[in-house]
Amino acid sequence: MAVSSSPFRVVTPGAAAAVPHLSVEGVSLSYQASRGPVQALDDLSLTVAQGEFVSVLGPSGCGKSTLLKLVSGLMRPTAGRISLNGKEVTGTRSDVGIVFQKPTLLPWRTVLNNVLAPIRAMKGDARAHTENALNLLTLVGLQEFANNYPNELSGGMQQRVAIARGLAHDPGFLLMDEPFAALDALTREHMMLELQRIWLSRSKSVLFITHSIPEAVFLSDRILVMSSRPGRIVQEVRVELPRPRTLESMSEKPFNDCAKQLRQMFSKA
Ligand SMILES: Nc1ncnc2c1ncn2[C@@H]1O[C@H](COP(=O)(O)OP(=O)(O)O)[C@@H](O)[C@H]1O
Ligand SMILES: [Mg+2]
Repeated sequence: MAVSSSPFRVVTPGAAAAVPHLSVEGVSLSYQASRGPVQALDDLSLTVAQGEFVSVLGPSGCGKSTLLKLVSGLMRPTAGRISLNGKEVTGTRSDVGIVFQKPTLLPWRTVLNNVLAPIRAMKGDARAHTENALNLLTLVGLQEFANNYPNELSGGMQQRVAIARGLAHDPGFLLMDEPFAALDALTREHMMLELQRIWLSRSKSVLFITHSIPEAVFLSDRILVMSSRPGRIVQEVRVELPRPRTLESMSEKPFNDCAKQLRQMFSKA
């Protein structure tokens, strides 16, 4: 990483990563809504390098969840191309872990079996993964709820189960759509630290969607700022704060300088 006196650097949008893990090129998407077509994304391009943590920051309704659904292969773009490891994304993939904005748990399965769902979906050995799944439940503070059902949990707890599920098969690429938005402030801080720890200890690439500036600054190598709908990337900044980042660093000047500059960009987006 380049040594720079400022922890925050504006870079040219779309500057190519050497070997992108994810590449989104000129992607557009229009929904056919009852009152006519809605263009959610317009000619959006981005890359995520191998092992890079990239956040997409944008206002409500700008198309962030649409972007995540396209990258996850649940929807196909109206125009443009999305590729992972150089291969076009045409459907869901086992090397990707997804955490949606809503928990989307299976109500008839226990918490533990929800975490194991990706393993079963891939015809893996759920028994061999049980210890890992229980460790993930400990990580999200829900070890005591392994045998409960989703409707016995609060919304924030269900979202933590969904985060554990996204990590269950140890995917190389993580896609997360505002995963901490429904959590209380203390739990959110704990989850930010844990996500950073997991990301630092295993070589994962992450595309993280958020509307929270502090969350984006804390976690990211790069932050892509999206315009309001139809969404496209209008700014790209590199966060060069040292890692591991601590909660204390969030009240220090370099962190606040980053957040302040981003807030100014965000308000113009
Ligand atoms: N299934 C759908 N049908 C029609 N319009 C949709 C649909 N899903 C999302 N939209 C519209 O597309 C735009 C982007 O939505 P979304 O990607 O959910 O934004 P964000 O996640 O940034 O809040 C919004 O204007 C929304 O109303
Ligand atoms: Mg959304």
